[in-house]
Amino acid sequence: MKVLLLGSGGREHALAWKLNQSKELTKLFIAPGNAGTDELGYNIDINPNNFDDVKKLVLEEGIEMVIVGPEEPLVRGIKDYFLNDPDIASVSVIGPSKEGAKLEGSKEFAKDFMKRHKIPTAAYFSVNERNLEKGIDFLKTMQAPYVLKADGLAAGKGVLIIDSFENAVQELKNMIGGKFGAASKTVVIEEFLSGIELSVFVLTDGHGYLVLPEAKDYKRIGDGDTGLNTGGMGAVSPVSFANKDFMDKVEKRIIRPTIDGLNKDDILFKGFIFLGLIKVGNDPYVIEYNVRMGDPETEVVLPRVKNDILELFRAVAAGELKKHTIDIDSQYVTTVMMVSGGYPGDYEKGKVIKGLNRVKGSIAFHAGTKIDGGKIVSNGGRVLAVSSYGATKDDALEASYRNIDLIEFDDKYFRTDIGFDL
Ligand code: AMP
Ligand code: GLY
Repeated sequence: MKVLLLGSGGREHALAWKLNQSKELTKLFIAPGNAGTDELGYNIDINPNNFDDVKKLVLEEGIEMVIVGPEEPLVRGIKDYFLNDPDIASVSVIGPSKEGAKLEGSKEFAKDFMKRHKIPTAAYFSVNERNLEKGIDFLKTMQAPYVLKADGLAAGKGVLIIDSFENAVQELKNMIGGKFGAASKTVVIEEFLSGIELSVFVLTDGHGYLVLPEAKDYKRIGDGDTGLNTGGMGAVSPVSFANKDFMDKVEKRIIRPTIDGLNKDDILFKGFIFLGLIKVGNDPYVIEYNVRMGDPETEVVLPRVKNDILELFRAVAAGELKKHTIDIDSQYVTTVMMVSGGYPGDYEKGKVIKGLNRVKGSIAFHAGTKIDGGKIVSNGGRVLAVSSYGATKDDALEASYRNIDLIEFDDKYFRTDIGFDL
């Protein structure tokens, strides 16, 4: 099967790596890809949000399946674009419809969905310029800290957690006034939940589903979980507190009602559901839905999936996922992100990366790299995700850190405490 994978991060390198192990793959294209995916297929320099360019490539190359890595093309409706065009309607697109992608693209939509289908989540109230006073009344019923979320996509920056009531009211006004542009014209105010977070991934054809390995992501830039939020500085799988009892609750209270809810609401969803969960006491609550895999979670989740991933994607497209079971490697996998100095603030790109050929016992997934004049150089804040297997979490981490020491680029930075139990 000829496959096109959209995206350019560590998630996409991990997907490309996994697709390359499939006996069904005949040719892989990645758009736009990075220096890592370049070794596994054909990088094509087109923007995944430019659907006309994607269509052109699909027709020129006879591509049979499109796998969508990031959320933006999904939220913009790439699935519907394909379905509505007779030239490409028969091409399988792994990812939800535009309506399904609202689970990530609109916090208000996601909260209303959870409320309607009785899925445990924080209490909330949705505010815009017309009901601001009511929003402030709701804030008064909450206790500090106050959680304010921009309704729309805001490059991962749209969630504010604020200690004082006065600041919360001010920020609420700022957000509705356009602090995050159109994304925060509507704001969801949420009850603050206190607990430990984890990510659970589901692959679904809209009816059947498989629960992939869970993962824990380390989001802050600094050791000890301090400093600014990032896209993720490392991840581990499995997660110590996600025992059978807890995961059974996740399946019964969250996963099944989510799939049933999509059906009741007549929403087409053939793709990944990424549940951002928080464990409060012993109970799971949904913090957020995403409609794609996580990054860097993919770099620990996919190495633990033993199935042929393309076989699973084909079953998703055909609506036959119920015929399959998931086969998970019991080993630990950890990943540690190497980032550009300064990230998540300003940083420089174009630093030559040396030592990748010395990596042994780990997989260096490229997150932000490109080839420049025959050399591999950094091309983003997050540069490489170094993933390793181990019989224990410590064994896996030891391998990731040993290999990180072998890879050099100017101003490289990484957290030294990935894997610690929060
Ligand atoms: P989100 O973009 O919705 O995942 O939110 C970003 C981060 O904010 C989450 O990973 C949590 O750490 C935190 N957060 C979001 N909502 C809540 C909440 N209701 N209670 C506590 N923390 C939250
Ligand atoms: N690592 C979090 C995310 O992919 O959204």
